[in-house]
Amino acid sequence: MKILMLCLGNICRSPLAEGILRSKLPEDFEIDSAGTISYHEGKKADHRSIKIAQQYGIDISNHRARIITPKDLEDYDRIFCMDLENYKDAVSMASTEEQWQKIGLILNEAGNHGDQIEVPDPYWSEMDAFDNVYKMLDAACDSIAKNLTSK
Ligand code: 4NP
Repeated sequence: MKILMLCLGNICRSPLAEGILRSKLPEDFEIDSAGTISYHEGKKADHRSIKIAQQYGIDISNHRARIITPKDLEDYDRIFCMDLENYKDAVSMASTEEQWQKIGLILNEAGNHGDQIEVPDPYWSEMDAFDNVYKMLDAACDSIAKNLTSK
């Protein structure tokens, strides 16, 4: 099973989602992350994401940003998007219905039926926004991991 986490820059939210989900699943699950813009390609995760992950015992310091490619839509079984913009961008890359069906919003996939369907972009905010994103992703990844391992 191969899972891709998707956000805009691949430096704040999706590297966190990748690290958190990896910590909750056996090693035979392959988890990666990507962004929809190339601006930060090759860069490490944002220092605030690295710091908040470290505070919760997760190491994402080896992450390097990359952009999503059409091949990802073939290779990955599930693509979890952080917000609606990422979702629209991923859907617009899909060339078959099978690919389109792999794509979802991470909070929807996690069975979050509350009002919030998007993981807010913390890039222009302070550290508390990163803590909030971490907690949202941790809860979402808990239910994703449970769903994936109970099948
Ligand atoms: P991310 O956050 O999509 O969670 O990685 C952002 C990173 C960079 C930018 C925006 C959001 N940016 O505008 O460069």
